[in-house]
Amino acid sequence: MRKHIVAGNWKMNLTFTEADELLDDLMSELEKVELPRDEKVIVCPPFPYIEMASDYANDSYFAVGAQNVSDKDKGAYTGEVSAAMLESCEIDYCIVGHSERRAYYGETDALVAAKVDQLLAHNLSPIVCVGEVLEEREAGRQLEVVKKQVEGGLFHLDAENIKKIVIAYEPVWAIGTGKTATPEQAQEIHAYIRSLLAAKYGKEVADDISILYGGSCKPSNAKELFACPDIDGGLIGGASLKAKDFMGIVTAF
Ligand code: 13P
Repeated sequence: MRKHIVAGNWKMNLTFTEADELLDDLMSELEKVELPRDEKVIVCPPFPYIEMASDYANDSYFAVGAQNVSDKDKGAYTGEVSAAMLESCEIDYCIVGHSERRAYYGETDALVAAKVDQLLAHNLSPIVCVGEVLEEREAGRQLEVVKKQVEGGLFHLDAENIKKIVIAYEPVWAIGTGKTATPEQAQEIHAYIRSLLAAKYGKEVADDISILYGGSCKPSNAKELFACPDIDGGLIGGASLKAKDFMGIVTAF
């Protein structure tokens, strides 16, 4: 059975002290609740706070993920962080192909595929983001766009490796805009992504892959989104920066 996952993407926010406070608040909140055994909480802070987050996580309350990784193995690539480095910090996840990286740093499907390979080679689970921009949705092209991203970023993998992937559907028009996809809109794309996976890898494999929704997800709308059959949780931006809001989503299943 696939996991339910709520992952917080802090993006480029918070100072060291603020990050420390948020992790502290999050721990006290998580200590109060008993989460279902099939639910996983992941925190993805900026690189400098990964070690601090791992110390807090303590193997129990949440897992830690990075927000980006290099497509290169190692060497003279100033400013890059390799999958081997992330592995040596003992973290388990890494976001890849976020729309902000696609839009501002020219990340292509081929680059996403290379980063996915790096992560898998170093025993990290990639959280691979896909999603259409507003003009594409308005032109009715959302399925075509998502198909291209899923195929280009992931379909070089074999069935054994595809099972290690988490997919996040994040319609770009819903990110940070306060405009959430309706449960019907999100469910349609999630079911479509699962059908693509089923056609390529078989239904059993497709049914095991967690597909998260991201885009202005908050405590007030998480419940109805997570109630959809193909929505297995959320990738949370803004609301992951406040422990109470994040917990409101973590406890929405
Ligand atoms: P918001 O939750 O702030 O809309 O961001 C979503 C996101 O991009 C998570 O990766």
